[in-house]
Amino acid sequence: MSNIASLGYLIFEVSDFSAWRQFAANVLGLMVCDSDAGETLSLRMDGHAHRLILQSGPADDLVAVGFEVADRDSLNDLANSLRSAGFDVLECDTAAAAERSVEMLVRTVDPNGVGIELFCGPLRADTAFVSGLVPEGFVTGDEGLGHIVLNAKDHEATERFYQDLLGMRLSDRITMPIGPDQSIDINFYHANARHHTLAFTASGLPTAMHHFMIEAREMDAVGLAYDRAQRAGVPIMSTLGRHTNDRMLSFYAQTPSNFQVEFGWGGIKVDDESWQVSHYDKGSIWGHQMPAASEHGG
Ligand SMILES: [Fe+2]
Repeated sequence: MSNIASLGYLIFEVSDFSAWRQFAANVLGLMVCDSDAGETLSLRMDGHAHRLILQSGPADDLVAVGFEVADRDSLNDLANSLRSAGFDVLECDTAAAAERSVEMLVRTVDPNGVGIELFCGPLRADTAFVSGLVPEGFVTGDEGLGHIVLNAKDHEATERFYQDLLGMRLSDRITMPIGPDQSIDINFYHANARHHTLAFTASGLPTAMHHFMIEAREMDAVGLAYDRAQRAGVPIMSTLGRHTNDRMLSFYAQTPSNFQVEFGWGGIKVDDESWQVSHYDKGSIWGHQMPAASEHGG
C-alpha cells in the first residue's frame, strides 16, 4: 500500500485578505506572496513555493489539504486504491499541477467534504525563506508543514479514509473532558516522524477546520509570537501550555477566519519500530487554559 509522506500545503477560503496578510506576516512571522492576479495569497514558511494558500471567499474554512506522496508510482497506486474504495479521483492536467507548484496532482474529497490533493514533486521557491520575526524558521522538511485537526462529521468514515486508505498510523487517542458529564475523543495519526500530521474529532461543528499547527525551531519563538499576538489584540484561544501526547509547548490564537492556529515548539518524534499507542484522559500537562469568556466575547 502507498502512503502519504507529509502534509504539503493547506488551502483556506478566507473572507478578509488584508486581516490575514497582517496576521500571517506580523504575528506568525510567515512570508506573504501575492499571486499575479491577486486572487490568492500564498504564505511561505520554508523553501517551498507555498505552504498555506488563501483563496478569497465567504467560507472562512479549510477547503483542501495537499498531501505529498513519494513519487509518481506511489501517487498512481494511491489513486487506484481510492478508486477501488469507491472514491472519485480526478487526475489533474499540467496547468492545474503548475498552479499548485507540483509535478503531478490528483484530487478527491474526504468523507467530511474536504478536498484532498495528492501530489508529488513540489517545486522550490526562487528565493530563500526569510523571516525577521522567526529567524530560525520552522520545522518542516520530511515532517511537512505541521499538523491539522479536523472537525469530522463521521468518526468511522474519517478513520477509514485517513488510516486505511491514506495509510496514516495511529499515534494515540485523547478522551478530553469538555464539561461536567461530557467528553470528546480525538484520534491522532502520523505519516512521518512528526507525532501527528492529522487528528480529528467527531465534534459535529459546521466547519471542517479546528486548527492547524506550525512548529518553530526555537522555543523563544513561541513566547515572542505569544507577545505579538497579545499586542496585536488577537484573541488567545488557549494560553501557553504543554500537550500530554506530543509534548508540544504551544499556544492557540484565533485566525482572522475564526478557526485557530497552534504555534508550537518541541514536539516529540515517532519511531514506528518502537512506538506504542497510548490513551490519554487530558490534553495538556499544564497550561492551555481557555481565557475567560468575557475577555473575548465568549
Ligand atoms: Fe494541535
